[in-house]
Amino acid sequence: MAYETIIVETRRHVGLITLNRPKALNALCAQLVAELGQALDAFEADDEIGAIVLTGSEKAFAAGADIKEMAGKSFMDAYLADFITDGWERITTCRKPVIAAVAGFALGGGCEVAMMCDFILAADNAKFGQPEITLGIIPGAGGTQRLTRAVGKAKAMEMVLTGRMIDAAEAERAGLVSRVVPLAELVEEAVKVAEKIAGLSRPVVLMAKEAVNAAFETSLSQGIRFERRLFHATFATEDQKEGMAAFIEKRSPTFRNR
Ligand code: HXC
Repeated sequence: MAYETIIVETRRHVGLITLNRPKALNALCAQLVAELGQALDAFEADDEIGAIVLTGSEKAFAAGADIKEMAGKSFMDAYLADFITDGWERITTCRKPVIAAVAGFALGGGCEVAMMCDFILAADNAKFGQPEITLGIIPGAGGTQRLTRAVGKAKAMEMVLTGRMIDAAEAERAGLVSRVVPLAELVEEAVKVAEKIAGLSRPVVLMAKEAVNAAFETSLSQGIRFERRLFHATFATEDQKEGMAAFIEKRSPTFRNR
């Protein structure tokens, strides 16, 4: 598949997608969003791929939705096309884990795309923000919801009401990112983490992801019940037998995704 706005590579069992509109700081135009969806579809369908890394450039993960493309939209354009659910949320329906490796600016839709991923690894130069309010709009791809769940009301409200950016250290303190790594090591580290995940039992990884995600959609008691049912289900896998046998026999497990 020939893409124009993203670069798609495979590193062993990891799918690596690099947003690639350097002149526009990876602004998320309709073509980029469509191509991202196609690349995710292809990696989801590829049995060799166990996890996906989404990254940008050193200067920008993505500086938001493409303002030049959005500027002339009318209410009716936005409403009838159901902008932004027309493709943007493809990441959230991926069953395989998706890691955002964020360097530079992750602003507006860029921050929202990073938050749609399962977790964010940040380079030490990363900057996160929801500057929509300064353009006369509000976040439209989950920013008011996912940011608030990630960092709490006080910080989310300040960021959404003022557009203030936070740096990588503040993002880590606030729980928005799982870890901060030196810029030069970001992609390599993200691929390493993804390879680790890809080497584990595929069905059990999918169950673990589903269980954590249930925490955002259910009450505690429903979430714990859901977790317990999936936990029980892991005992029906050959990989559970292999994982535990390998531990007892003091060897590395060979998971067969069964
Ligand atoms: C279109 C963008 C862009 C964007 C940057 N560019 N961000 N084009 N949409 N979101 C373009 C600039 O126009 C410029 O192109 C080139 O990228 C380089 O940007 P500069 O501003 O010259 O770079 P710099 O001075 O380093 O400033 C970096 C920046 C700034 C702080 C990130 O570019 C900026 O504030 N960008 C907008 C950030 C933003 O408001 N994002 C939220 C968008 S709304 P030219 O050709 O002019 O030189 C949003 C809503 C999502 O995301 C809702 C769901 C759909």
